[in-house]
Amino acid sequence: MQITVESKLPRLVTALPGPNAKRVVEYDGKFMSPSYTREYQLVAKRGRGAIVEDVDGNTFLDFAAGIAVCATGHCHPKVVDAIQKQAAELIHMSGTDFFYESLPQLAERLVKTMPGAEAKRVFFGNSGTEAVEGAIKLARYTTKRDKIIAFYGCFHGRTLGALSLTASKATQRKGFGTMLGGIEHIPYPNAYRCAQGHTSETCGTEIIEQLENDIFKRLFDPADVAAIIIEPIQGEGGYIAAPLAFLQELQRICRKNGIMLIADEVQSGIGRTGKWWAYEHAGIEPDIITTAKGIASGMPLGAFIARESVMNWKAGSHGTTFGGNPVCIAAALATLDLVEGGYMENARRMGEYLFGKMADWTKKFKIIGEVRGRGLMIGVEIVRDQKTKEKAADLRTQIVNLAFRKGLLILSAGECTFRLSPPLLIDEEQADFAVRTLEECFREVEKSL
Ligand SMILES: Cc1ncc(COP(=O)(O)O)c(C=O)c1O
Repeated sequence: MQITVESKLPRLVTALPGPNAKRVVEYDGKFMSPSYTREYQLVAKRGRGAIVEDVDGNTFLDFAAGIAVCATGHCHPKVVDAIQKQAAELIHMSGTDFFYESLPQLAERLVKTMPGAEAKRVFFGNSGTEAVEGAIKLARYTTKRDKIIAFYGCFHGRTLGALSLTASKATQRKGFGTMLGGIEHIPYPNAYRCAQGHTSETCGTEIIEQLENDIFKRLFDPADVAAIIIEPIQGEGGYIAAPLAFLQELQRICRKNGIMLIADEVQSGIGRTGKWWAYEHAGIEPDIITTAKGIASGMPLGAFIARESVMNWKAGSHGTTFGGNPVCIAAALATLDLVEGGYMENARRMGEYLFGKMADWTKKFKIIGEVRGRGLMIGVEIVRDQKTKEKAADLRTQIVNLAFRKGLLILSAGECTFRLSPPLLIDEEQADFAVRTLEECFREVEKSL
C-alpha cells in the first residue's frame, strides 16, 4: 500500500520488522558506524504528512518527526516544490564567497520572528552542533572572554566545542579526551525532581544563588564569563521546561555582568511550542539564538542569530562552504510560510488538546511520573513507583518498542522519559490514536509487573 495525502492513521501489514526491513538492518550492520543508537527497527521508505511507510508497506504515525525535524510533516508538497525548483536552478554557490538573494531573505524572515528593537544578523550552517559552535565562537569573540556556563542534562551537539557544553549522557563524551577548557556545568531546574520541593514556577532559586554566590565568587569572576547557554526546554535531557522566572533571572545576571545569554532553540524552536521560540514564553531576549532541526523540514540547515552589536566580527572570522545552501534555504522559506500560515497555531492548539487527554495519566497509570512540556514538545517520565520516583528506564524502553509494534513512532529522551515531537500539522484523530496507543502500552507494561 502506498501512502497518500489522505492516509492519516497507520496500518500494519506484516510482523515487525518485516522481511525487507530485516534485510536492510542486516545490510546496515555491515557498513554503518556502530555508534548510531536505533531504538527499534524502522526502515523508512517514504513519508507524507505525519505518516511514514516502511520497506514492507507498513505505515506508522510519526510522533518523532526525525528527532523533531519534520515540522511541516514529511514531504510537504510546498517544501518539495521549493526544493525541486531551486535544485533545477542553482544547487550550490557558497554564501561565504558569493551572494544570492535567498540568504538575506531567510535571514530577514528569521529576524522578524524575534522580539527586540535592535537589528539582528544571521549566520547559516548545516546543523545544530555547528550553530552552537558558531555561537560559542561569537560569544568569546564579542566579549573577549572565554568561560562558559552550561547546564547538566542539556544537549548541544557532538562536535568538540558543542560536546564540551553537552552534559546529557556520559557515553556521549567518554573516550574523547579533554574537552574545551573554561566550561562549568550547573544543575538545570527540574521541578519534578526538585530537591528543595519547589514548584514549576519557583524551582531553580537555589541554582541562581549558587551561580552568583559560589561560582562567581569561588570559580570564575563573572567578568571572565563569555556566555551562559541554556535550552529553554531541555530536549534530549527529557523535555523539561525551565521555569520562566529562572530564565528571567539568567537574563538579569547576564545583563548585569556583560555575559551573552545563548538560547539553544535547536529542538524547541520554529513554532514547536506554539511560539516561534520557547524563550518567548518567558518574555526574555537572549543575546544569541541557535536554531536547526525544524527550520528546513528535513534539509540540513542551522543558524545562529544575534543582535547587530553582538555579531560584529571581522570578515574571515567565521565561514562555511555549504552552510545556507540555496536548496536548504528554499526549503526553509517554504517551511516558515507554512509554520506562520497555521502550523505554529496548530502546535499550540494540538499541544493543549494532547495535554488535556493526558491530564489524568498520573492517576490512571502508576508508572507515569509526570507529563510535561509545551505545545508539541511533550515528555512523559516513566517511574517504577510514583512515591519514590524511582526511574524506570527499562519500562520506558518497553513502551517505546511496544508503541512501534502498534504503529506509533516515538523516541526516548533523558534517563526514563519518552518524548512526543510530532510534525506540527497533526489533527485530533491522530492525537487520539497516539493517546489510545500509548494507554494500551502502559496497560500492557503494568500488567507485566
Ligand atoms: C538543543 C540541541 N542543540 C543542538 C543539537 C545538535 O544538533 P545536530 O544534531 O543537528 O548537530 C541538538 C540535537 O539534538 C539539540 O537538541
